[in-house]
Amino acid sequence: MTEATPSLVHDPESILERVQPHLLFPQLQPIELELGSGDGSFLVKFANLNPQHNFIGVERLLGRLRKLEKKALKIGLTNLRLIRLEAAYLLEFMLPAQSISAIHVYFPDPWPKRKHRKNRLINERFSVLAGQVLIPGGVIWLRTDDPDYFQQMSDVFDANPTFEKMETPQELSEIITDFERGFLARGIQTNRAAYRLKHQ
Ligand SMILES: C[S@@+](CC[C@H](N)C(=O)[O-])C[C@H]1O[C@@H](n2cnc3c(N)ncnc32)[C@H](O)[C@@H]1O
Repeated sequence: MTEATPSLVHDPESILERVQPHLLFPQLQPIELELGSGDGSFLVKFANLNPQHNFIGVERLLGRLRKLEKKALKIGLTNLRLIRLEAAYLLEFMLPAQSISAIHVYFPDPWPKRKHRKNRLINERFSVLAGQVLIPGGVIWLRTDDPDYFQQMSDVFDANPTFEKMETPQELSEIITDFERGFLARGIQTNRAAYRLKHQ
């Protein structure tokens, strides 16, 4: 990146005030989020395939965020911005209600030990927060390799009456994430689920 290249990383002036996500982009168009983007292979590819949408990648590790930024700058993406924050905090305190058209959460840390499960991102509270930031008709796309976490994800969204289950379309399903590539190479099965926020 040269000095003249603008950074794709949005550094909020305050973490006590909500961001205005549409102001981060040159074009006013629907905004999708990926929580825990990692190195961003999925997000860079998906944002490039969908120039009619804007995308925000959320990742707490700076090294991964920088790798993602480098990939996006290399191909000149203008519809992608990155935020380094804890994902649930962003949903609860930083994003306005009904500002997001889709949320992607792929292979969130599984916390397999029973005593650590309280650290999982997707829980009952998360489904409420997702329901607040999504627009009516907005969708959450989920993937994990961990069978117990998959059950937990399905249980919390099945139990939330504001969401309805739907299928993941083939063209989305076919875009494999970094971690997924590793799981598939080791013969580990991955699971997908999707839920749409009902129109009230
Ligand atoms: C297992 S990796 C999956 C990365 C990517 N989604 C993929 O499928 O290749 C999980 C990523 O989520 C990030 N992460 C975990 N918990 C997070 C949180 N609460 N907020 C933001 N990022 C988080 C981690 O730093 C890591 O990069």
